[in-house]
Amino acid sequence: MHITDIQSIHHSQPEYWENSYNAGEMAWDLGEPTPIFKNWIHSQKKPLSICILGAGNGWDALYFAEKGHEVTAVDFADSAITNMTNAAKKKNLNLNILHEDIFNLEKLYDAQFDIVLEYTCYCAIDPNKRTNYIQMVNNLLKPSGKLVGILFPIDKELDGNGPPFGVDINTTMTLFLKYFTLVEKEIPALSIERRRGREVFVIFKKNGY
Ligand SMILES: C[S@@+](CC[C@H](N)C(=O)[O-])C[C@H]1O[C@@H](n2cnc3c(N)ncnc32)[C@H](O)[C@@H]1O
Repeated sequence: MHITDIQSIHHSQPEYWENSYNAGEMAWDLGEPTPIFKNWIHSQKKPLSICILGAGNGWDALYFAEKGHEVTAVDFADSAITNMTNAAKKKNLNLNILHEDIFNLEKLYDAQFDIVLEYTCYCAIDPNKRTNYIQMVNNLLKPSGKLVGILFPIDKELDGNGPPFGVDINTTMTLFLKYFTLVEKEIPALSIERRRGREVFVIFKKNGY
C-alpha cells in the first residue's frame, strides 16, 4: 500500500485502526485493565451482562470475564479481535468477541445488556455520529441498564483534529441527558498518570424506568 493510500483511509474505517495496530501505535492501550473500572466492578454484587464498545486489546473485557461477568467485546479491527481471542484462549475465559462495527449492533441486540462500557471509543468515532452512538447505547441497554464510562479527553478542543476527538464535558452531558439520567460523575482518583485531570468517570441510567 502507498503512503497516500494510508493517509486517505478515514478513521471510520477498520483499516485506519488496523494500520495503528500493525504499526504498534496504540497510545490508547494501558497494557492492563483500567484501574477505575477494576474499582467499579469490584463494587458489583451480581453477575452482569456487559457490552464493551471498541474493546481494543480487551484488557477490561478479559478482567470482567475473569470475575464471572458475561462480556461481549466489540471491535472492527482484525488485530483487536485476534489479540482478544488469543488472550481469552490462553486464560481459558468465556468471552463473546464480536468482529463488528458498533453502528451495526442494533441489528443484533435489542435491550440486551445490563451495562454498556465506554472508554476511548466515543472519542474515536466521527464526532458527527455521537448522537447516533448515544441512541445506539440506549437501545442496547435493558430498561434498567446503565452506561458506565470514562469520558476522555475532556481537555481537548473539538476542532476537527483526531482521533482522539475532544470531548467537551458540558456538550456531552447535554447529549446524554436527552436519553439518560446521571447517576455518578467524578474526576477519578485512579486515573493513570498521563490522563490525570483529563477524564471524567460517569454512570448514566436509562430514562423512564
Ligand atoms: C482508541 S482505541 C480504544 C480501545 C480500548 N477501548 C482501550 O481503551 O484500550 C479505539 C478502538 O475502537 C475501535 N473502533 C473505532 N471505531 C469503531 C467502530 N465504528 N466499530 C467498532 N470498533 C471501532 C478501534 O478499532 C479501536 O480498537
